[in-house]
Amino acid sequence: MHPLLNIATQAARNAGNIIVRSLDRVNHLEITEKGRNDFVSDVDRFAEQEIIRTIHKAYPHHNILAEEGGEQTGHNNKEEVTWIIDPLDGTTNFLHGFPQFSISIGITYQGQLQHGLVYDPLRQEIFTASKGSGAFLNDRRVRVSKQQGLEGALLGTGFPFKKQHYLDTYLTTFKALFPHVSDIRRPGSAALDLAYVASGRLDGFWEMDLAPWDIAAGILLIREAGGFVTDFAGDHNYFTTGNVIAGTPSVHKEIYQIIYPLLE
Ligand code: IPD
Ligand code: CA
Ligand code: CA
Repeated sequence: MHPLLNIATQAARNAGNIIVRSLDRVNHLEITEKGRNDFVSDVDRFAEQEIIRTIHKAYPHHNILAEEGGEQTGHNNKEEVTWIIDPLDGTTNFLHGFPQFSISIGITYQGQLQHGLVYDPLRQEIFTASKGSGAFLNDRRVRVSKQQGLEGALLGTGFPFKKQHYLDTYLTTFKALFPHVSDIRRPGSAALDLAYVASGRLDGFWEMDLAPWDIAAGILLIREAGGFVTDFAGDHNYFTTGNVIAGTPSVHKEIYQIIYPLLE
């Protein structure tokens, strides 16, 4: 395993322990609403601090872009490695004791994704990828499913619960896709949804308005597992638009063909 991924794994496991230990006291946590339906607890903050501490112990100068702390650059301005971190993806699930959440860590070099890790601390499943080296679940190589097209496909998605002005547009995409597929899931952790596409548990996925920390690791996982990821226009501007279509090559293509004309 690449040394950077090794540190990412340690960081994610430490954060996972903090999160899982807190699960039985979710009703007593200090919770703040950052925006409508956008909650943060001390657990999100502690998990993030632990991840950054682990990274900076090994790499004091690396840049950090983390959900709860925003951008914290290292001391060396020439540093070209950035860690993109969601310390707890699926906070709404976590706060309800609904057992589906993850930790997501993506690593870029000169702006290009090089490594990605998504960790499910409850199932102890760790999804990792390094550019050019494939995608793994624990120590086993994973690939996207063999699903051809939407007929029979199981898709994942996310609802725009924090940005409800997107609801009509989102429902248009849902209504257009639903008749073509086997079924649709809304598990509640976008990073884990993308890891599930990479490991063949979902055949495709789409969601609007995601943040870089939701998707950085998952995008690399899917690419390394033989799948495709784009924004709704079929481009790679997902870090700016936040819109994501992912899937096996043909599932991705059919989702795109249905969604794109709706948004013009
Ligand atoms: C959220 C989850 C959810 C997705 C939201 C994200 P958070 O992240 O990934 O599945 O639908 O758009 O914001 O707030 O739990 O880290
Ligand atoms: Ca998130
Ligand atoms: Ca989060």
